[in-house]
Amino acid sequence: MTDLLPPMKSKLHGKVAIVTGGASGIGEATARHFADNGARAVVIADIQDDEGQNVAASIGPHRCAYIHCDVTDEDQVKSLVESTVSLYGRLDVMFSNAGIVSRKSQTVLDMDLSLFDELIAVNTRGMAACVKHAARAMKEGGVRGSIICTASVLASRGFDVGTDYTMSKHAVLGLMRSASLQLAGDGIRVNCVSPGTVGTPLTRATLGVKEEEMETLVEKRSRLKGVLRKKHVADAVTFLASDESEFVTGLDLAVDGVYVAAC
Ligand SMILES: NC(=O)c1ccc[n+]([C@@H]2O[C@H](COP(=O)([O-])OP(=O)(O)OC[C@H]3O[C@@H](n4cnc5c(N)ncnc54)[C@H](O)[C@@H]3O)[C@@H](O)[C@H]2O)c1
Repeated sequence: MTDLLPPMKSKLHGKVAIVTGGASGIGEATARHFADNGARAVVIADIQDDEGQNVAASIGPHRCAYIHCDVTDEDQVKSLVESTVSLYGRLDVMFSNAGIVSRKSQTVLDMDLSLFDELIAVNTRGMAACVKHAARAMKEGGVRGSIICTASVLASRGFDVGTDYTMSKHAVLGLMRSASLQLAGDGIRVNCVSPGTVGTPLTRATLGVKEEEMETLVEKRSRLKGVLRKKHVADAVTFLASDESEFVTGLDLAVDGVYVAAC
Protein backbone atom coordinates (compact mmCIF):
# COMPACT_ATOMS: atom_id res chain seq x y z
CA MET A 1 0.00 0.00 0.00
CA THR A 2 1.33 3.47 -0.90
CA ASP A 3 1.92 5.87 1.94
CA LEU A 4 -0.54 8.72 1.97
CA LEU A 5 1.02 12.15 1.46
CA PRO A 6 0.76 14.36 4.55
CA PRO A 7 -2.11 16.88 4.26
CA MET A 8 -1.02 20.18 2.66
CA LYS A 9 -0.90 23.00 5.20
CA SER A 10 -2.84 26.07 4.09
CA LYS A 11 -0.57 28.96 3.26
CA LEU A 12 -2.10 31.39 5.75
CA HIS A 13 -3.07 28.88 8.41
CA GLY A 14 -4.02 30.69 11.63
CA LYS A 15 -3.17 34.17 10.40
CA VAL A 16 -5.21 37.30 11.09
CA ALA A 17 -5.23 39.79 8.23
CA ILE A 18 -6.56 43.25 7.42
CA VAL A 19 -7.33 44.22 3.82
CA THR A 20 -7.93 47.91 3.15
CA GLY A 21 -9.98 48.68 0.08
CA GLY A 22 -11.38 45.18 0.54
CA ALA A 23 -14.91 46.03 -0.66
CA SER A 24 -13.97 45.99 -4.34
CA GLY A 25 -11.49 44.96 -7.02
CA ILE A 26 -8.05 43.65 -6.03
CA GLY A 27 -8.78 44.04 -2.30
CA GLU A 28 -11.98 42.00 -2.48
CA ALA A 29 -10.31 39.26 -4.55
CA THR A 30 -7.40 39.12 -2.09
CA ALA A 31 -9.65 39.00 0.99
CA ARG A 32 -11.43 35.99 -0.53
CA HIS A 33 -8.09 34.42 -1.45
CA PHE A 34 -6.78 34.90 2.11
CA ALA A 35 -9.86 33.11 3.46
CA ASP A 36 -9.52 30.32 0.86
CA ASN A 37 -5.90 29.89 1.93
CA GLY A 38 -6.75 29.24 5.55
CA ALA A 39 -6.54 32.67 7.21
CA ARG A 40 -8.14 32.47 10.65
CA ALA A 41 -9.74 35.87 10.21
CA VAL A 42 -9.88 38.55 7.53
CA VAL A 43 -10.95 42.09 8.37
CA ILE A 44 -12.18 44.11 5.42
CA ALA A 45 -11.72 47.85 5.82
CA ASP A 46 -13.28 50.30 3.40
CA ILE A 47 -15.55 53.32 3.06
CA GLN A 48 -18.12 51.51 0.86
CA ASP A 49 -20.03 50.02 3.76
CA ASP A 50 -22.76 48.07 1.94
CA GLU A 51 -20.29 46.46 -0.46
CA GLY A 52 -17.81 45.70 2.33
CA GLN A 53 -20.48 44.13 4.52
CA ASN A 54 -21.69 41.99 1.61
CA VAL A 55 -18.17 40.72 0.90
CA ALA A 56 -17.63 39.92 4.60
CA ALA A 57 -20.99 38.14 4.85
CA SER A 58 -20.25 36.03 1.77
CA ILE A 59 -16.86 34.96 3.15
CA GLY A 60 -18.58 34.03 6.42
CA PRO A 61 -19.23 35.86 9.71
CA HIS A 62 -16.95 33.58 11.74
CA ARG A 63 -13.91 34.28 9.57
CA CYS A 64 -14.53 37.75 8.21
CA ALA A 65 -15.58 41.10 9.62
CA TYR A 66 -16.18 44.45 8.00
CA ILE A 67 -14.95 47.62 9.69
CA HIS A 68 -15.58 51.07 8.25
CA CYS A 69 -12.24 52.82 7.91
CA ASP A 70 -11.32 55.87 5.90
CA VAL A 71 -7.55 55.52 5.56
CA THR A 72 -7.15 59.30 5.25
CA ASP A 73 -8.07 59.57 8.93
CA GLU A 74 -5.24 58.28 11.12
CA ASP A 75 -7.55 57.85 14.13
CA GLN A 76 -9.75 55.50 12.10
CA VAL A 77 -6.71 53.48 10.99
CA LYS A 78 -5.48 53.21 14.59
CA SER A 79 -8.93 52.13 15.71
CA LEU A 80 -9.17 49.56 12.85
CA VAL A 81 -5.95 47.91 14.01
CA GLU A 82 -6.96 48.04 17.71
CA SER A 83 -10.38 46.54 16.95
CA THR A 84 -8.78 43.74 14.93
CA VAL A 85 -6.39 42.86 17.75
CA SER A 86 -9.20 43.03 20.29
CA LEU A 87 -11.48 40.81 18.14
CA TYR A 88 -8.90 38.21 17.07
CA GLY A 89 -6.01 38.57 19.51
CA ARG A 90 -3.26 39.55 17.04
CA LEU A 91 -2.42 41.00 13.64
CA ASP A 92 -0.23 38.99 11.27
CA VAL A 93 -0.88 40.60 7.89
CA MET A 94 -1.72 44.13 6.75
CA PHE A 95 -2.61 44.42 3.08
CA SER A 96 -2.64 48.18 2.62
CA ASN A 97 -4.37 48.42 -0.71
CA ALA A 98 -6.99 51.21 -0.68
CA GLY A 99 -6.33 53.61 -3.53
CA ILE A 100 -7.96 56.06 -5.90
CA VAL A 101 -7.13 57.68 -9.23
CA SER A 102 -7.23 61.33 -10.26
CA ARG A 103 -10.65 62.75 -10.91
CA LYS A 104 -9.11 64.51 -13.91
CA SER A 105 -6.36 63.45 -16.30
CA GLN A 106 -3.27 65.35 -15.14
CA THR A 107 -0.30 66.26 -17.31
CA VAL A 108 2.41 68.49 -15.88
CA LEU A 109 1.23 71.48 -17.92
CA ASP A 110 -2.40 71.27 -16.89
CA MET A 111 -2.11 69.84 -13.38
CA ASP A 112 -4.96 70.91 -11.10
CA LEU A 113 -3.05 71.16 -7.85
CA SER A 114 -6.27 71.55 -5.87
CA LEU A 115 -6.92 67.86 -6.57
CA PHE A 116 -3.51 66.75 -5.28
CA ASP A 117 -4.29 66.60 -1.58
CA GLU A 118 -7.27 64.27 -1.97
CA LEU A 119 -5.24 61.74 -3.95
CA ILE A 120 -2.10 61.91 -1.82
CA ALA A 121 -4.23 61.62 1.34
CA VAL A 122 -5.46 58.17 0.26
CA ASN A 123 -2.64 56.73 -1.86
CA THR A 124 0.34 57.96 0.14
CA ARG A 125 -0.60 59.31 3.58
CA GLY A 126 -3.25 56.59 4.03
CA MET A 127 -0.68 53.90 3.17
CA ALA A 128 1.75 55.41 5.70
CA ALA A 129 -0.91 55.37 8.44
CA CYS A 130 -1.67 51.69 7.74
CA VAL A 131 2.01 50.72 7.79
CA LYS A 132 2.61 52.68 11.01
CA HIS A 133 -0.27 51.26 13.04
CA ALA A 134 0.08 47.71 11.73
CA ALA A 135 3.81 47.75 12.54
CA ARG A 136 3.14 49.08 16.05
CA ALA A 137 0.58 46.34 16.74
CA MET A 138 2.88 43.61 15.37
CA LYS A 139 5.84 44.87 17.41
CA GLU A 140 3.78 45.18 20.60
CA GLY A 141 2.35 41.69 20.07
CA GLY A 142 5.75 40.17 19.27
CA VAL A 143 4.39 39.06 15.88
CA ARG A 144 6.73 38.46 12.92
CA GLY A 145 4.16 40.09 10.66
CA SER A 146 3.95 40.87 6.97
CA ILE A 147 2.88 44.24 5.57
CA ILE A 148 2.10 44.50 1.87
CA CYS A 149 1.34 47.79 0.13
CA THR A 150 -0.25 48.04 -3.30
CA ALA A 151 1.97 50.23 -5.46
CA SER A 152 1.68 50.00 -9.27
CA VAL A 153 3.73 49.55 -12.40
CA LEU A 154 3.53 53.35 -12.41
CA ALA A 155 5.51 53.40 -9.14
CA SER A 156 8.75 52.87 -11.03
CA ARG A 157 8.24 54.65 -14.36
CA GLY A 158 6.73 57.82 -15.76
CA PHE A 159 3.52 57.99 -17.73
CA ASP A 160 1.95 60.35 -20.27
CA VAL A 161 -0.92 61.35 -17.99
CA GLY A 162 -1.92 60.85 -14.36
CA THR A 163 1.16 62.64 -12.99
CA ASP A 164 -0.32 62.90 -9.51
CA TYR A 165 -1.19 59.18 -9.39
CA THR A 166 2.31 58.25 -10.62
CA MET A 167 3.84 60.50 -7.95
CA SER A 168 1.65 59.03 -5.22
CA LYS A 169 2.68 55.48 -6.15
CA HIS A 170 6.41 56.31 -6.37
CA ALA A 171 6.09 57.47 -2.77
CA VAL A 172 4.68 54.09 -1.76
CA LEU A 173 7.93 52.44 -2.85
CA GLY A 174 9.91 54.89 -0.69
CA LEU A 175 7.66 54.14 2.27
CA MET A 176 8.02 50.38 1.79
CA ARG A 177 11.81 50.51 1.41
CA SER A 178 12.32 52.68 4.50
CA ALA A 179 9.86 50.68 6.59
CA SER A 180 11.43 47.36 5.55
CA LEU A 181 14.82 48.56 6.81
CA GLN A 182 13.45 50.05 10.02
CA LEU A 183 11.28 47.05 10.94
CA ALA A 184 13.63 44.22 9.96
CA GLY A 185 15.08 44.09 13.47
CA ASP A 186 11.61 43.29 14.80
CA GLY A 187 11.14 40.49 12.27
CA ILE A 188 8.43 42.47 10.46
CA ARG A 189 8.55 42.28 6.66
CA VAL A 190 7.34 45.05 4.33
CA ASN A 191 6.89 44.54 0.59
CA CYS A 192 4.93 46.00 -2.33
CA VAL A 193 2.88 44.37 -5.01
CA SER A 194 2.80 46.33 -8.27
CA PRO A 195 -0.01 45.29 -10.57
CA GLY A 196 -0.19 46.10 -14.25
CA THR A 197 -3.63 46.91 -15.64
CA VAL A 198 -6.31 44.69 -14.10
CA GLY A 199 -10.04 44.96 -14.79
CA THR A 200 -11.63 46.57 -11.71
CA PRO A 201 -14.15 49.40 -11.16
CA LEU A 202 -11.15 51.75 -10.76
CA THR A 203 -9.61 50.98 -14.16
CA ARG A 204 -12.94 50.75 -15.98
CA ALA A 205 -13.82 54.24 -14.74
CA THR A 206 -10.38 55.67 -15.55
CA LEU A 207 -10.12 54.20 -19.00
CA GLY A 208 -13.80 54.77 -19.75
CA VAL A 209 -14.36 51.26 -21.10
CA LYS A 210 -17.20 48.80 -20.61
CA GLU A 211 -16.64 45.53 -18.75
CA GLU A 212 -16.69 43.49 -21.97
CA GLU A 213 -14.05 45.74 -23.63
CA MET A 214 -11.75 45.60 -20.62
CA GLU A 215 -10.42 42.10 -21.32
CA THR A 216 -9.07 43.04 -24.78
CA LEU A 217 -7.44 46.17 -23.40
CA VAL A 218 -5.82 44.31 -20.49
CA GLU A 219 -4.53 41.62 -22.84
CA LYS A 220 -2.86 44.27 -25.03
CA ARG A 221 -1.05 45.72 -22.02
CA SER A 222 0.72 42.47 -21.16
CA ARG A 223 3.52 40.95 -23.19
CA LEU A 224 2.98 37.64 -21.45
CA LYS A 225 0.29 35.83 -23.41
CA GLY A 226 -3.02 35.95 -21.60
CA VAL A 227 -5.08 38.27 -19.43
CA LEU A 228 -3.86 39.65 -16.11
CA ARG A 229 -6.60 39.06 -13.54
CA LYS A 230 -7.25 40.03 -9.91
CA LYS A 231 -6.52 36.42 -8.96
CA HIS A 232 -2.92 36.77 -10.19
CA VAL A 233 -2.38 39.77 -7.93
CA ALA A 234 -4.10 37.98 -5.02
CA ASP A 235 -1.75 35.00 -5.52
CA ALA A 236 1.31 37.26 -5.28
CA VAL A 237 -0.03 39.03 -2.18
CA THR A 238 -0.81 35.69 -0.55
CA PHE A 239 2.78 34.58 -1.19
CA LEU A 240 4.09 37.79 0.46
CA ALA A 241 1.65 37.35 3.37
CA SER A 242 2.64 33.74 3.97
CA ASP A 243 5.66 32.11 5.58
CA GLU A 244 6.71 30.97 2.08
CA SER A 245 8.24 34.44 1.75
CA GLU A 246 9.75 34.30 5.25
CA PHE A 247 12.99 36.01 4.21
CA VAL A 248 11.58 38.35 1.54
CA THR A 249 11.43 42.00 2.54
CA GLY A 250 11.97 45.34 0.79
CA LEU A 251 10.74 43.86 -2.50
CA ASP A 252 8.53 45.47 -5.15
CA LEU A 253 6.88 42.46 -6.76
CA ALA A 254 5.56 43.36 -10.22
CA VAL A 255 2.56 41.33 -11.42
CA ASP A 256 2.30 42.81 -14.86
CA GLY A 257 3.18 40.37 -17.66
CA VAL A 258 6.53 42.08 -18.36
CA TYR A 259 5.33 45.68 -18.51
CA VAL A 260 7.96 47.23 -16.21
CA ALA A 261 10.79 45.11 -17.60
CA ALA A 262 9.88 46.26 -21.09
CA CYS A 263 10.29 49.96 -20.21
N1 LIG B 1 -6.68 47.87 -11.17
C1 LIG B 1 -5.47 48.15 -11.62
O1 LIG B 1 -5.19 48.00 -12.82
C2 LIG B 1 -4.41 48.63 -10.70
C3 LIG B 1 -3.10 48.69 -11.19
C4 LIG B 1 -2.09 49.12 -10.33
C5 LIG B 1 -2.39 49.47 -9.03
N2 LIG B 1 -3.68 49.40 -8.59
C6 LIG B 1 -3.94 49.77 -7.20
O2 LIG B 1 -4.65 48.70 -6.61
C7 LIG B 1 -5.39 49.18 -5.49
C8 LIG B 1 -6.82 48.66 -5.59
O3 LIG B 1 -7.40 49.19 -6.76
P1 LIG B 1 -8.59 48.48 -7.56
O4 LIG B 1 -8.23 48.53 -8.98
O5 LIG B 1 -8.94 47.20 -6.92
O6 LIG B 1 -9.74 49.57 -7.35
P2 LIG B 1 -11.21 49.52 -6.72
O7 LIG B 1 -11.76 50.88 -6.94
O8 LIG B 1 -11.94 48.35 -7.24
O9 LIG B 1 -10.91 49.28 -5.17
C9 LIG B 1 -10.37 50.28 -4.35
C10 LIG B 1 -11.08 50.24 -3.01
O10 LIG B 1 -10.47 51.22 -2.16
C11 LIG B 1 -11.51 51.84 -1.42
N3 LIG B 1 -11.12 53.16 -0.94
C12 LIG B 1 -10.99 54.30 -1.66
N4 LIG B 1 -10.68 55.33 -0.85
C13 LIG B 1 -10.62 54.83 0.41
C14 LIG B 1 -10.36 55.39 1.67
N5 LIG B 1 -10.13 56.71 1.82
N6 LIG B 1 -10.35 54.58 2.77
C15 LIG B 1 -10.61 53.25 2.63
N7 LIG B 1 -10.89 52.66 1.45
C16 LIG B 1 -10.90 53.44 0.36
C17 LIG B 1 -12.67 51.93 -2.41
O11 LIG B 1 -13.90 52.15 -1.75
C18 LIG B 1 -12.57 50.58 -3.10
O12 LIG B 1 -13.34 49.60 -2.44
C19 LIG B 1 -5.25 50.70 -5.54
O13 LIG B 1 -4.25 51.10 -4.62
C20 LIG B 1 -4.80 50.98 -6.96
O14 LIG B 1 -4.09 52.18 -7.07
C21 LIG B 1 -4.69 48.99 -9.39
